[in-house]
Amino acid sequence: MNDTFLRACRGERVEYIPVWLMRQAGRYLPQYQAVRADVEFLTLCKTPELAAEITLQPVDILGVDAAILFSDILIPVEAMGVSLKFSDKNGPILNELIRNKSAVDRLIMPDAEDDMPFVIETIKILREKLKDKVPLIGFSGAPFTLATYMIEGGGSKNFLHTKKMMFQNNRLFNYLMEKLTLTVISYLSVQIKAGAQAVQIFDTWAGVLTPFDYKETVLPYLKKIISELKREAVPIIYFANDCAGILKEVKKSGADVIGIDWRIDIADAIKKLGRRVVVQGNLDPCALFLSKEEIEERVKDILWKGEAAKGHIFNLGHGILPETPVENAVALVEAVHKYGRKV
Ligand code: CP3
Repeated sequence: MNDTFLRACRGERVEYIPVWLMRQAGRYLPQYQAVRADVEFLTLCKTPELAAEITLQPVDILGVDAAILFSDILIPVEAMGVSLKFSDKNGPILNELIRNKSAVDRLIMPDAEDDMPFVIETIKILREKLKDKVPLIGFSGAPFTLATYMIEGGGSKNFLHTKKMMFQNNRLFNYLMEKLTLTVISYLSVQIKAGAQAVQIFDTWAGVLTPFDYKETVLPYLKKIISELKREAVPIIYFANDCAGILKEVKKSGADVIGIDWRIDIADAIKKLGRRVVVQGNLDPCALFLSKEEIEERVKDILWKGEAAKGHIFNLGHGILPETPVENAVALVEAVHKYGRKV
C-alpha cells in the first residue's frame, strides 16, 4: 500500500507530498452522477456496496494518495433521532429543531454497531478493496458544527439560534455539546476499529465564532475527543473552516494534523501553528477554474511555503465544487506529485 499520506500525517519522511481533496467523491464526477441518478443521496450513504464504489472513484480517476469514506457528517445526527432530508437547492433540512431541554433529552446516544452498521460494512469492504492502493480516512462532524445543524434545522447565515442558545442558555448548549462529543468519540472509535486508518473531524462552522467563544465553548470538547481517540493510535486531522482568527486556539486541540482553508496564506498559518505541526490544505477550491499553468503556479507556491511545517498534506481549503472540471482536478494531483517530490 502507498502509505505516503499516513507517514506525512505522522511527520515522517516522505518521498513526495501526498494529496487528497475534500469532497473528492461527489457531484463533479460523471461517474458519481451516474450512480446517483437512480439513488437518493442518503440511500447511497446507507448502501455499503455503492458507498464503497463511490469512495473508490476519485482514487482511480484522480490518483489521490488517500480515500475518504463516502458518507455525510449528518448520518450520526439521524442516528440520534433527528430525521433529515437533502434538498438539491437548500442542502440538508432537519425535521426537528433542537432548541430546548426536552429536545436535547430526547436525543439518543447512538450505538454505531446497531444504528449505523452500514458505515462499518462500507469501511470493511473498502479496506479489502484498497489493500494495494491507499489508506482510508474515516470522518465525523465536530460537535459545534453538528450542533449548528441541529439548532438551526439546516444551513444558516448568521447562526443566530445557535449563538442565542450559547449566550442565553449556556448550560443547555453545553449539555448538547456533551451529548454530541460522546457520540463523536464512539462513532470515530467504531470507524477506526472497523479499519479507518486516519480520521478527520470537520468543523465547517467553527470560523463563525469569536476566538473567545471558540476557546470557551468549542475547544474543550474537541480536546476531549482528540485525547480519547489518541488511544486508537491513528492520525487525527482537525479541519476548522475559516480558521485564521482562531488558529492560536486550534493549535491547542492536540490534533496530529491541522487542516486550513484558503483565506489565510499557508506561510502565516504555519507561523501561527508552529513548526511542530503537520498542516493540510490550502488551495482555494475556485483555483481549479484557472488554467492548468496557473494551477501549477499556485501549487508550487503552497508546496514551497508548506516546507516550513513539520509535514504537509496537500488539499483544497474546502470541498471541491460540483462545477469543477475533472481534468483540472487531475492536473492538480499531477502537479502536486511532480513539484512536491523530494529528491
Ligand atoms: O469528502 C468526501 O468525498 C466524502 C464524502 C462527504 C460528503 N459530505 C458527501 C456529500 C463528506 C466528508 C461530507 C462532509 C460534510 N457534509 C460536511 C463537512 C465538510 C464541508 O464541506 O464543510 C458538511 C457541512 C456536510 C453537510 C452537507 N452534506 C451539506 C451542506 C450538503 C449539501 C451541499 C453540498 O455541498 O452538496 C451535503 C450533501 C452532500 N454530502 C453531497 C455529497 C457528495 C451531495 C449530495 C448529492 O449528491 O446530492
